[in-house]
This record gives sequence, C-alpha cells and structure tokens, in this order.
Amino acid sequence: MVSKTESAVYTHGHHASVLRSHTWRTAQNSAAYLLPYLKPDMKLLDIGCGPGTITVDLASYIPQGHITGLENGEGVLTQARALAEEKGVANIDFVLGDANELAYDDEAFDVVLCHQVLQHVRDPVRILQEMKRVAKVGGIVAVRESDYGAFVWYPNSEGMGNWRDLYHKVTRHNGGEPDAGRMLHAWAKQAGLTDIKCSSSTWCYSRKEEIAWWSGLWAERTVASSFGTTAIDAKLATSEDLSNVATTWRKWGDEEDAWFSVLHGEIICHKH
Ligand SMILES: C[S@@+](CC[C@H](N)C(=O)[O-])C[C@H]1O[C@@H](n2cnc3c(N)ncnc32)[C@H](O)[C@@H]1O
Repeated sequence: MVSKTESAVYTHGHHASVLRSHTWRTAQNSAAYLLPYLKPDMKLLDIGCGPGTITVDLASYIPQGHITGLENGEGVLTQARALAEEKGVANIDFVLGDANELAYDDEAFDVVLCHQVLQHVRDPVRILQEMKRVAKVGGIVAVRESDYGAFVWYPNSEGMGNWRDLYHKVTRHNGGEPDAGRMLHAWAKQAGLTDIKCSSSTWCYSRKEEIAWWSGLWAERTVASSFGTTAIDAKLATSEDLSNVATTWRKWGDEEDAWFSVLHGEIICHKH
C-alpha cells in the first residue's frame, strides 16, 4: 500500500520514442561505477527501473542474489517483466511502488540504486532518506543522474540551445531538476548520508547510427511524448515551437561531424 506518492510529473512519460532511449541502457553503459562493489549473493533494489534493461543486466552480476525493480508506472513494468522472462532471468521481481515511501523494512537490501530518477521527483532528499533507511548497515546507496546543463554537442546552433532551454523549463514546471547530476552529493548529505564517493561519467554518441538514433528519438520525443504535451499545456511552447525543435534535431542529426556527450553525476554512499 503506497501512502506518500510522487507529486512531480515524470517529464518523459513512457512513449515508444522515450523507451527507444531507455532500452539501450545496460549495466556496463549506465552502472559501471557500481559494478566493482557487487557480490554474487547481494540483494539489490533498483528504484524507478523503467523498462528494466539495466535491472535485468545487473542480475547477471549477482547470480546467487536477488534484484527487485520498483516503478510507479504500471505499463512499463509489464515490459520489464517480459524482458526478464525473455532473457531467462529468474532471480528478479518487478513491483509497483513509490520511491517516497518504500514498503520495505529497514535494512532490507545490500544495494539500493536509482538511475535517472531523482531528476524527475519533487523531493530527492526524502527519497535518498528512504534509500538509506532500506539499505543495510555496511550496504550501499548508489545514484546516477544526468545533468542537462552540462551536455555538450557539436556543431552548436541556436535551435539546439532553444531545445535545452525548453527542456529546463518543462522539467522544472513538472517539479523536477534537470541539472541533478551536479547536486547528488549535496542531496545525499542532506539525507544524512556521510560516506559519499563522487564520480562522473558520460555517454558519447558519434557514430552515424548512434547520431541517427539519438537525434531521431529526440525529434520524435519533442512532439509525441509527454514532454510536448506538457510544454503546450503549460504554455511554455506552441506546437510550432515544438515542430521547430524537432526540425533542429533532425538537421543536427544530418551533420557530417555530429557529436554529443551526456554528462552524469554519480554517488556511491556507504551506510555506517
Ligand atoms: C528516466 S526513467 C529511468 C528508468 C531506468 N532507471 C533507466 O535508467 O533506464 C525514470 C523512471 O522513474 C520512474 N519514477 C519516477 N518517479 C518515481 C517514483 N517516485 N517512484 C518510483 N518510480 C518513479 C518513472 O516512471 C520512470 O520509469
């Protein structure tokens, strides 16, 4: 039974154009900072697991352990469960729940992880407190969040700058923080965590097929996902503005030397 629920609106929603991005993610490309800490028999909770590609992949690092993927979006959980079945991964459960009030006893997990979730919530410190509560003493709270203000790309253009400005406005209107990556250590301190190790890492897209995928999904997301609906409903953009942003993304994707880097902040917190 979930009693405190999320009051921020999840900016992206689970449109196919969004999930094309999320299902690319693996333990290696999105949780490399955590992998050295994993032991085969650990119990791990992945909060805001989305379509579960990272979650299912992580199961192979803890073959005698157990993973729980938790989500407050019911539809995407069906996709995550189907993926686990397709891959024959049995030491995993996907459950409906809200990160603000986890339905677990204190000290229930060795590792409590979230990836690209705290940037979309109203109260990241509260969620980190919950993550800390359900982590064992000696266990780990691990978070990785992108930082839109620190994304860099080539070639630059006014249109791409407009996309980032609009993204910042829409996400903050929804109650989130698009530059979360640089704030994780400060939020963790506020949540009472003391042993905080910071790192950063990037996704980098430069090959023709990567650029086509990244620019194509952002062009589509801009007009077809919840991002576009919110932008219009909140009067942050007109449909013409959105269509201009989508065109900008497609044009950028046609550039011979297009290059994009997505910076992430990461924290590993040991609970004492
Ligand atoms: C950007 S997606 C990340 C999905 C996955 N972790 C990944 O990196 O592929 C964020 C996910 O967090 C979920 N979410 C947002 N707020 C949540 C909350 N308060 N409790 C549980 N899940 C939440 C959303 O439904 C969404 O699926």
